[in-house]
Amino acid sequence: MISPTAPKVLVLGGKTGLLGQSLCASLTKAGWQTVSVGRDDLDLFDQDRVAAFLDDHEPDIICNTVAYTQVDQAEDEPEEAARLNHRLPAALGRLAKQRNIRLVHYSTDFVFDGKAATPYCSESPTSPQSVYGKTKLAGEKALQDLGLDRLTIIRTAWLFGPGRTNFVAKILALAAQRASLNVVHDQTGSPTYTPDLADYSVELLKAEGTGIFHLVNCGCATWCELAGAAVQAKGLQCDVFPIPSDQYPQKAKRPAYSVLDTCAFTTLTGIKPRPWLQALREYVFQHLT
Ligand SMILES: NC(=O)c1ccc[n+]([C@@H]2O[C@H](COP(=O)([O-])OP(=O)(O)OC[C@H]3O[C@@H](n4cnc5c(N)ncnc54)[C@H](OP(=O)(O)O)[C@@H]3O)[C@@H](O)[C@H]2O)c1
Repeated sequence: MISPTAPKVLVLGGKTGLLGQSLCASLTKAGWQTVSVGRDDLDLFDQDRVAAFLDDHEPDIICNTVAYTQVDQAEDEPEEAARLNHRLPAALGRLAKQRNIRLVHYSTDFVFDGKAATPYCSESPTSPQSVYGKTKLAGEKALQDLGLDRLTIIRTAWLFGPGRTNFVAKILALAAQRASLNVVHDQTGSPTYTPDLADYSVELLKAEGTGIFHLVNCGCATWCELAGAAVQAKGLQCDVFPIPSDQYPQKAKRPAYSVLDTCAFTTLTGIKPRPWLQALREYVFQHLT
């Protein structure tokens, strides 16, 4: 039951995005009024239309999950990546500031260079190595430069979950057809289940968290470990072999280590994100069987 006094949240990317869809579900579950905005509902690059849309709907909060997320393709399309990851959040930030709307924007572990040996916290120095990471960091900085009173930037990583294809779903589709798979073992990150990220985002909103937060499931894994755990959870007969990144060349440079520290979130909300393996099993059992 949604109360008419519940906060109204506009979720950009809520119709089709991997995170956007889970975020809409979590907000609705929390009893908040949710307006899901997809590509066909509004041209986000038409300032006048976006302004009119905001004035029409009068949201309390905008959550921006829209991004250029094709990490390798971004190396060939830096302008388009910048348009979505840098200029769009900046424009949204200006409109939100004029109307005193709270803005929640999502960013990435790819703002780091991956040379650390311990988890990155919100204040750790950034040094993106790819067009995707550089444009996402430019989006963060543009928003911070606007001086919004109520800005929340949530950096997350390695997303899997229902509603859109993702690494885990792709691995399981391949594993169902093959006797073995080779997966890189020299990149370590924070696998994150989108329904968990969405629930934690709602808790962060309730706690009125502002600034930069890292939000991921607890624990870390290599891509090979994540793939192996998914294959095991699904009970498939497929061997997962570790390979170094140079045996799986990709256009964009990835951080070798991008585990995110969620302490700031836990200190504010009292919530410790659950382990990624528990979340992975829930995903496989509930959504992939
Ligand atoms: N996926 C990850 O592993 C990961 C890791 C770290 C951080 N993040 C960040 O988390 C956030 C959510 O990522 P995600 O994986 O949920 O993204 P996603 O599934 O790729 O969804 C992106 C959304 O943006 C929309 N979009 C893309 N280009 C658009 C355009 N030109 N005009 C209008 N809408 C457009 C897409 O709409 P269509 O479906 O119509 O294209 C989709 O709804 C992003 O900020 C991303 O940078 C993601």
